[in-house]
Amino acid sequence: DETIVLSDLAKRMGIKANEMIKKLMMLGVMVTVNQTIDFDTAALVASEFDYEVEKARFEEDAVLNIDSEDDAGKQVGRSPVVTIMGHVDHGKTSLLDVIRKTRITEIEAGGITQHIGAYSVATNRGQITFLDTPGHEAFTSMRARGATVTDIVVLVVAADDGVMPQTVEAINHSRAAGVPIIVAINKMDKAGADPDRVMRELADHGLMSEEWGGDTIFVKVSAKQNQGIDELLEMILLQAEVLELTANPERHARGYVVESKLDSGRGPVATVLIQEGTLHAGDPIVCGIHHGKIRAMLNDRGAQVDEAGPSMPVEILGLSGVPNAGDEMVALDDDKSAKQVSEHRLQKHRSLELAKTSRVSLEKLFERM
Ligand code: GTP
Ligand code: MG
Repeated sequence: DETIVLSDLAKRMGIKANEMIKKLMMLGVMVTVNQTIDFDTAALVASEFDYEVEKARFEEDAVLNIDSEDDAGKQVGRSPVVTIMGHVDHGKTSLLDVIRKTRITEIEAGGITQHIGAYSVATNRGQITFLDTPGHEAFTSMRARGATVTDIVVLVVAADDGVMPQTVEAINHSRAAGVPIIVAINKMDKAGADPDRVMRELADHGLMSEEWGGDTIFVKVSAKQNQGIDELLEMILLQAEVLELTANPERHARGYVVESKLDSGRGPVATVLIQEGTLHAGDPIVCGIHHGKIRAMLNDRGAQVDEAGPSMPVEILGLSGVPNAGDEMVALDDDKSAKQVSEHRLQKHRSLELAKTSRVSLEKLFERM
């Protein structure tokens, strides 16, 4: 399945793409400049020009050095990453807002300036990192991703609405990712609130409350009236203690892109959740098919920081392009390796994309015939 785009091969051999196309045509292979050819075809046409093509597999892992770092004795406790999930409008963002307002704004003068979907909250018993997710049915992949990068899921269910399709979906994502669920029954202030119904419906989906002899933690809250929030935070920290979360802050940083955008003034911007190691300003990085050097790092309140350790969400500047949410970010020793890995991925990506578009245009062609 090793392929190369014709123009890339021609460029490497220092031959005009046209010449190569002509030669291939004589060999009975019809390709255009942007199409990919497989290894055997590349070898064949290269030999016509007295070149030899070698199958030099690029060992990305070796360059990335992922498994070579020794974590022994360097694992230390880290704060939990908590993803808020639930059906649309059940109050996920409101819940996060109230958590952030009561815990952050009083500490941080100037309040919240950045909204990056990932927030670090200081409690008197330690930090918690929260990820907000959308409840709308269109965002399945974001929820699936949210479940895989997290330690704990807080499942928000509105007391007046009960279990709905995306509630069930969130349960399934969490199970698939093996992540424990804490249930927050929200909107307890509403007239139609019926927490027993929520508990019954969730029991049908395998989430039995401790009250009823099961092992799932349920907390009744009202984001609107700021009720039950302390208990919810308490339960999160308790669950986190049980999980004994650790990471090695001394290795090269590794993390996931939570959000990304192209900012007209600052260029590509990505919000990254650090999972292992410590990211420093100036670090060379690879992120998806892009690379760069950390030009600046901002925390969730928009303040510049010089480093970010495990479980910290940071906005990073300095990438060559906008990565996709879910892409992995890895810090490397030098710019050259970062560029090498990114170029290799870009080439692979390009040949995959071109394979797709050429298929599409062929289909279009057949449609017209
Ligand atoms: P999506 O992100 O679209 O999935 O929604 P969400 O789950 O983040 O819900 P959001 O926090 O945006 O709240 C939806 C609506 O419910 C808003 O009008 C909130 O004001 C309201 N709401 C949230 N929490 C409460 C609550 O505890 N009580 C009452 N009465 N209303 C609430
Ligand atoms: Mg929301």
